[in-house]
Amino acid sequence: PFPIYDKLREETPVRYDKERACWDIFRYDDVHLVLKNPKLFSSRRSQGEKRESLLIMDPPKHTQMRNLVNKAFTPKVIQELEPRIAEITNGLLDEVIPNTRMDMVYDVAGPLPVIMIAELLGVPARDRQLFKAWSDVLVKGPEVNTDEAFTSVMAEKRQASDELSDYFKDILVQRRRKRENDLISLLLDAEIDGEKLSEEELLGFCILLLVAGNETTTNLIVNAIRYMTEDVPLQAHLRAHPELLPHAIEETLRFYPPIQAIGRIATRDVEIGGQKVEAGSQVISWVAAANRDGRKFAEAARFVPTRKPNPHLGFGFGIHFCLGAPLARLEARIVLGILLHRCIDIEREEGALLHPIQSPFVFGVTHFPVRFR
Ligand code: HEM
Repeated sequence: PFPIYDKLREETPVRYDKERACWDIFRYDDVHLVLKNPKLFSSRRSQGEKRESLLIMDPPKHTQMRNLVNKAFTPKVIQELEPRIAEITNGLLDEVIPNTRMDMVYDVAGPLPVIMIAELLGVPARDRQLFKAWSDVLVKGPEVNTDEAFTSVMAEKRQASDELSDYFKDILVQRRRKRENDLISLLLDAEIDGEKLSEEELLGFCILLLVAGNETTTNLIVNAIRYMTEDVPLQAHLRAHPELLPHAIEETLRFYPPIQAIGRIATRDVEIGGQKVEAGSQVISWVAAANRDGRKFAEAARFVPTRKPNPHLGFGFGIHFCLGAPLARLEARIVLGILLHRCIDIEREEGALLHPIQSPFVFGVTHFPVRFR
């Protein structure tokens, strides 16, 4: 999609799409402006999903909820997960390394985030297949752009979301009886203005973590490996200098962002890049285009693994900046570090076709078969 983004960013940076009835914006400064101004651009967009969630709240409610959960996701808290992430990664690799080939998505990058979120929330790891299936459905978009396809995906999502709710309801019942050292227990004790969270809010948050954190992290890891199989000298360089990995990961988030676009609703008439956007309009910020804007980044079209500073918008910006960023960064760094250490000359399996994930907002592939020594 990147050549198209380049064209749109340069030719029609702020553009109304009649068919989708929304504004698309492509330049860094414009996207930045939108994400920085929650008063002008509300997050109360429809997600085809009625459940309350942080992602679609505005202040003051958003601020209160976010403060509650921030403490569970600080870099310091997350850093403590390092040994466990390494253990899971090594366990997953032990299964496939004797074969000298694997599917990066299926064997490693898919399971790891699901296991980690399951453990943080405090749900049994043995249920992770169920989890994976539900979270895959919940991030799906329609495969073709017709009303029927849309309705059918929405029905599928609603069912997955209901099943997931029922699943978490049972866990809530158990934790109400007996607290554990997990996120669900923390949320059960949390209060906003002296009031406990409602059942809907608790369920909404659990489901959000699955939806927001799994496929995105999988795609970050796979997109990084994908780049390293396209640039073999870089792979060798990072193997010799693992301390560069955090920068290469940031550059992956800029160059191949797992989330391509972020939606908002204009709360009043507002001008973006000289265009008049009316109150109530949907505004889609194309992060993937903004991240390659030459007005902001030197050598924007090149993957520069040592780029510093790197103010990419891959995790969004402002009050909704990704809650799980410390976790995603840590998982990516550990997996890539271990992978490069244990597998030499990772190459994409010859002849393997890449199937993009069917969603205009996601950049990733469904499988990524590799060979290695
Ligand atoms: C928000 C991307 C991993 C949980 C966001 C947003 C982006 C994003 C772009 C902003 C959405 C907006 O402004 O409307 C990513 C990417 C990830 C990733 C690219 C992986 C590479 C995770 C993980 C978790 C997570 C691992 C949870 C464990 C959330 C939550 C929000 C969010 C809860 C909503 C925050 C808020 O509204 O205040 N993410 N995410 N994400 N992300 Fe992530």
